[in-house]
This record gives sequence, C-alpha cells and structure tokens, in this order.
Amino acid sequence: MSNKMWGGRFSTGPDAIMEEINASIGFDQRLYAQDIAGSKAHAAMLAAQGIVSAEDVEKITQGLDTILSEIEAGRFTFRRDLEDIHMNVEQRLADLIGPSAGRLHTARSRNDQVATDFRLYVRDTVDALDAQIADLQLALAEKALAHAATVMPGFTHLQTAQPVTFGHHLMAYVEMLGRDRGRLQDARTRLNECPLGAAALAGTSFPIDREATARALGFDRPTANSLDSVSDRDFVLETLSAASICAVHLSRFAEEVVIWTSPSFGLIKLSDKFTTGSSIMPQKRNPDAAELVRAKAGRIMGALTGLLVVMKGLPLAYAKDMQEDKEGAFDAFSALSLVVAASAGMVRDLEPDAKRMKAAAGQGYSIATDLADWLVRGLGMPFREAHHVTGRIVALASSRNVPLERLSLEEMQSVDGRITKDVFGVLSVSKSVASRVSYGGTAPARVRAQARRWLKKLAPKEA
Ligand code: ARG
Repeated sequence: MSNKMWGGRFSTGPDAIMEEINASIGFDQRLYAQDIAGSKAHAAMLAAQGIVSAEDVEKITQGLDTILSEIEAGRFTFRRDLEDIHMNVEQRLADLIGPSAGRLHTARSRNDQVATDFRLYVRDTVDALDAQIADLQLALAEKALAHAATVMPGFTHLQTAQPVTFGHHLMAYVEMLGRDRGRLQDARTRLNECPLGAAALAGTSFPIDREATARALGFDRPTANSLDSVSDRDFVLETLSAASICAVHLSRFAEEVVIWTSPSFGLIKLSDKFTTGSSIMPQKRNPDAAELVRAKAGRIMGALTGLLVVMKGLPLAYAKDMQEDKEGAFDAFSALSLVVAASAGMVRDLEPDAKRMKAAAGQGYSIATDLADWLVRGLGMPFREAHHVTGRIVALASSRNVPLERLSLEEMQSVDGRITKDVFGVLSVSKSVASRVSYGGTAPARVRAQARRWLKKLAPKEA
C-alpha cells in the first residue's frame, strides 16, 4: 500500500530497505513535545486567520493534547511505516478526530515543521546545559574558596614552574565555563527565530500570521527568508561547537584529575564514589569517571564534524541529508550533560593533599623568579641581569643539592656581593604566592575575591 500522507501518485509502497533508510522515527520521536507544541501554535493561528474553522481547530487541539498524554504515558505506538514524528502524530490525530485532522497541514510542510521542532529542542537543551554548567561553576568556586591559600605547584610544559594556589587553579575553569555558557547563549540568541510558515521552501499563498506563531512558541521573531528557514542547520552546528569547546575544557580538567590522582603525583584524592577498582590488582583506585569525561569530548567533537560534513556542499533548500542532523546532536548533548554532571560530582568529591602539594610546589627551584624579582626590587638590577644572577645561584644550589632558601648568605654573595639577608624574606612558596597580588594573580586574597565574585553571581536566584 502506498503512503497515506504523500502516496497519491504512488501505486505501491516502499521496498523494505527503502523504508529502513528513510525512517527517522527511531530517533526523532524525541521531538514529540516540540512537534505537538508547534502544531498547536500553527492550528491556533489557522483559526485566528480564518483559514481553518474554529470547530476543526478545537478538535485538532484536543486531539493533539490526547496524543501528548498518550506518548508521555508510554501508550503510543510509533510506526516506522509512518517515517517520522510528524507523520506519526498526524496519523494518530486522524485516527482520533477523523477528517478534520487533514486540515492541520494547511500552509505548512514537514520542512518548516522539523526546522521549528529542532530549534525548540536545541533551545531547551541550551537552557538545561546552562543550568548544569552553572552548577559545576558553583562546585568549583566553593572548593576554590576553601582552598584559596592551599599552595600547589603551577606547571608550564607540565614542569614545575611557579607556586600557585589550588583555589586559583580551580577558578581558571570557572572562567572557561563562563565563556562556554556565553557561547551557548550566543547560539541561543541567534537560533531563536521561527521557521514555521516557510512551508516547503517558498512560503505559502494562505494569509498566515508568522508573527503570531513565532510569539506563541517563544521565538523572538519569524525567520526572514523561507529558503534559509528550511535549509540551514547552523543553529545545531553552533551549539555543537560551543558544546565541543566546553567538552575540551572539561577533558583538560579530567586529564589533570587523572595525573594528580596518580600515586606518583598524589596531589589529590577521589573517594570511592568516583573511583573504581581493578579486577586483578587489589590496590588500584582508577579515576574512570575522569577518563570518561576526557574521552567523551571525542564523540561530541565527532558529532560536530559529522554534521559539518553532511551540510557541506548541500544545495538549497531542503534535502533528506539533513535528517542526519539529529542522532549525532542528541548523542552529543546527552554526553555533554553527563560529562558536566560527572565533573561537578568529582569536584565536590575531590580533596587535595595539602602537605604533598606544598612540598611539590617547592621542588624544581620554583621560587627562582621570586629571587630574581627581589634582585630587581631590592638591588635595582635590570631584570635580564637578575635572571642571569639567579640562574647562577640556582646552579650553585643544584650542585649542592639543596633548595634556594638553604643556601647561606655567604654562598649567595659568592655569586653577587650586593645580596643582603633580606633576600630570605621572599624565599618560600607561601611567600611567593602571597606576593602575586596583581589583578588576576594567585595571591590568596585575590583568589578569595575571585571566588566570592563568582559565588555571588551564581547564587540561586530568589523566587
Ligand atoms: N524526517 C525529516 C527530517 O528529519 C522531516 C522532513 C521531511 N521532509 C521531506 N521533504 N521529506 O528531516
């Protein structure tokens, strides 16, 4: 039997493999709520414009509400022969209310319908992700405030560079996540235009009111060009780009958790809640959650790349290729949601080993810059000369196998006779971090101010 919705000129139904490759109901059933909301807005507009009678629209609306509750109660049978969510809903509507159902599709096409549904879906996703990322920022800022003065090694090239505080390190991620939220919001602002009424590609001859449907669905305005409305998926690409960048940020954090929990580093500990054991080595505690956060960035970026490649070179307007926009995006958005939740869980769970952190912070002559800065400030040396003198003092300490502060004043003076005992006032990791008071620096006072500023911003809004 040919398709009831579009089979007028067909004498037989599709081959089984045709049906299989063509159907999207297996995954686009996720769009049911958006699809029904879009249909209700469209139907109300058709009545208001006198295109369909108020009676018919009343029946259509009630039927759509019934379908929504059937789907939500798990009592709806999705049929593959009906291809997608749009035709499954419409067919069920016909079963429920009879021929009036056939009037719903007036002045509309599945092309503008699916573009509208997916924009609504992505908009909901952005809002949910925003709330989740804000919660992760909250977890980070709270931990940062508690550890604003906990000294740890700061790294460049993963080599001990200069002491920083653990709180400062965590706050770096709060900043990154703030920009991630900003990118998601930018995408949301641009996507919030309503394609409904673009119809198949050219617009419609019916006197529709696109402002009304846009408003009813919470869009800022209707899209301005009917061809563009049905043929672009840049709103998905933009959201996936923002999602990918966020996933990359979290993969870096996850990698640090992996490194820092490794016994060789031993800078932080995760509890049993966020580690797993080994089936052969009883002593092991593996940071699997962190590893999976690190790994899931791959599939999120994969979804972005996949859709970019699908869209590349597609002539306007709609082509069925675009049906491939959904699965990867659904997968990527749920992966990101899981990654953000797991990251927040790990942040709340993890505890630094303050003693080991402090000891590690002092290794590798990490306070050499403080010595050089003192030579500049205390003796008026040009920085380049101070750098050179410090290098010689470090070489001396290294040849004796002692840290800088364990050299005697005489030993220091053997390198440069102008050095005084005041130099010892800057030679400790705690003094080093306390001195980094420049705006954005790691001094505990600065870190506390940063954390408090964010905590105020992130505080749950009072109702
Ligand atoms: N399932 C389709 C999709 O996701 C809906 C649009 C179908 N349009 C069409 N002209 N066949 O893209």
